[in-house]
Amino acid sequence: MKIGFLTSGGDCQGLNAALRGVAKTLFGAVPYVEIYGIQDGYAGLMDCNWRKMEQYEFSGILREGGTILGTSRQPFKTINNFDDSKNADRLTTMVRNYHRECFDALVILGGNGTHKTANALSQKGINVVTLPKTIDNDLYGTDYSFGFDSAVAKATDVLDTLHSTAAAHGRIFVCELMGRKAGWVALYSGIAGGADVILLPEIPYSLDSILEVINKRNESGKNFSIIAIAEGAMTKEMAGQPKSERKVGDISPGMELVRVLDEKLNQDVRLTIPGHFQRGGDPTPADRVFCSRLGAMAGELVLKRKFGYMVALQGDKIGAIPLADVAGKLKIIPLDNEVLKQARLLGISLGE
Ligand code: F6P
Repeated sequence: MKIGFLTSGGDCQGLNAALRGVAKTLFGAVPYVEIYGIQDGYAGLMDCNWRKMEQYEFSGILREGGTILGTSRQPFKTINNFDDSKNADRLTTMVRNYHRECFDALVILGGNGTHKTANALSQKGINVVTLPKTIDNDLYGTDYSFGFDSAVAKATDVLDTLHSTAAAHGRIFVCELMGRKAGWVALYSGIAGGADVILLPEIPYSLDSILEVINKRNESGKNFSIIAIAEGAMTKEMAGQPKSERKVGDISPGMELVRVLDEKLNQDVRLTIPGHFQRGGDPTPADRVFCSRLGAMAGELVLKRKFGYMVALQGDKIGAIPLADVAGKLKIIPLDNEVLKQARLLGISLGE
């Protein structure tokens, strides 16, 4: 069996743990398995940039951040673009290279964009098994994606740390967290890190409601406030406009919020943007376990030649869902989500 592994899209913690999980399962089960590491995601598949990997190369990587295979973003919308140097479009090039190398299957680790391309490859007859990776946790068909727990841990660390300096100076801290379309990281880390206000892409906010929270806290003797804002959050006014007319300035939502709060408040307002800090470093123990379980399941699917599936967390079980059911769907926070309800009960403002 000749299996190609690739990691695609933005990196996250746990990619190596998941690769290791699949490799261990495959090497452990059949003596004749060959694993090829495809470099930098779909770019490597297009450029025939791969190499045979030895079993030892998957050792000692369980807790390593990043990916030993490298990754790149290759937008799905470009897969039909014609590449003169290859005399084919990008999708055809990948299919052709797969067959020329006589791969038996591809194991693909990625998020939303990656799954659209994986599904397109699968529909072209390529044997594919995928694993759900994204700190954003917005991949449809799985209860959680790996990387999410680790990113929440990083973001929580930032919010925890801001508390002492915010309290010492009596300041307002706005902390902008990753999540353009889905606010899972902001919601979970906001609760874990004791944020007073959590602003999400799913729930447009009103500035007045934030000012009310800050004023109430000041009146009750709490002279500082922490606001966790997802990078895709927006005001009600902005959400009310057609997308094409939304004035997306040069500054991020966090910067904009600081600018406006600064005008309205007689109190220092500061901004922290942890950015890619949230995606780097070691996976949490929970993510290591999760990645290992997903890896084992992905390996099992390959061995059983059950292709065209993404392995997924379904309740407390690792199952599998057809790629066609995953591709192109986004898992944003549903407005009836229980965690939102509980956040409100806890007195956390969602800026409504
Ligand atoms: O999709 C993961 C993610 O980290 C998003 O939360 C963020 O908006 C984006 O990637 C950042 O992308 P890049 O690493 O290309 O700057």
